[in-house]
Amino acid sequence: MQRQPGFTLWLTGFSGAGKTTIATALEQQLKARGLYIERLDGDTVREGLTRDLGFSKEDRDKNIERVSYVAKLLSRNGVGVIAAFISPYREARQKARQACTNFIEVHVNAPLEVCMARDVKGLYAKALAGEIPNFTGVSDPYEAPEAPEITLNTDRESVESCTARVLEYLETHVFIPLEQPV
Ligand SMILES: Nc1ncnc2c1ncn2[C@@H]1O[C@H](COP(=O)(O)OP(=O)(O)O)[C@@H](O)[C@H]1O
Ligand SMILES: [Mg+2]
Repeated sequence: MQRQPGFTLWLTGFSGAGKTTIATALEQQLKARGLYIERLDGDTVREGLTRDLGFSKEDRDKNIERVSYVAKLLSRNGVGVIAAFISPYREARQKARQACTNFIEVHVNAPLEVCMARDVKGLYAKALAGEIPNFTGVSDPYEAPEAPEITLNTDRESVESCTARVLEYLETHVFIPLEQPV
């Protein structure tokens, strides 16, 4: 018998919306509870597994297809996967949903203006200057989730609150055990 049910938390949203920040916080807290967790993040996966891919629709679809495959293998074997990818296309996310065990779509939602103002990596400035083609929100589409299991409004809600809400969802749906009172 598996010690924990696998699940796939799929974080989607604009660059700068807060995917990596929330995914990292969740990973830390879930691991502290002794659970098996793997975090897959576009920021690192694109330097390894999918380093041959660019940002055309075809390549973005391939990126998500490969990541979904990894998430499928892990989640069906009792690992909690935290996947943080812009993943702008609804159809690609839908395929991920079908492949993965206990798929939970999390819309990491901040208005584009907020993401631009944050400009964590200075990429929006470059994209707006026309230096980066196919940049989501500037020169490439983002298809927002229509019925995500969870929406995090990161422009109005703290990282701690966002993270707590996701953990609560996992507990309520019995994907993780209730935290033992000390
Ligand atoms: N509630 C929140 N959740 C996540 N990030 C937040 C929140 N509030 C402010 N931020 C800030 O927004 C930025 C998000 O950056 P990052 O996590 O790298 O985004 P992404 O991975 O989606 O591109 C960070 O500087 C983070 O500190
Ligand atoms: Mg990131």
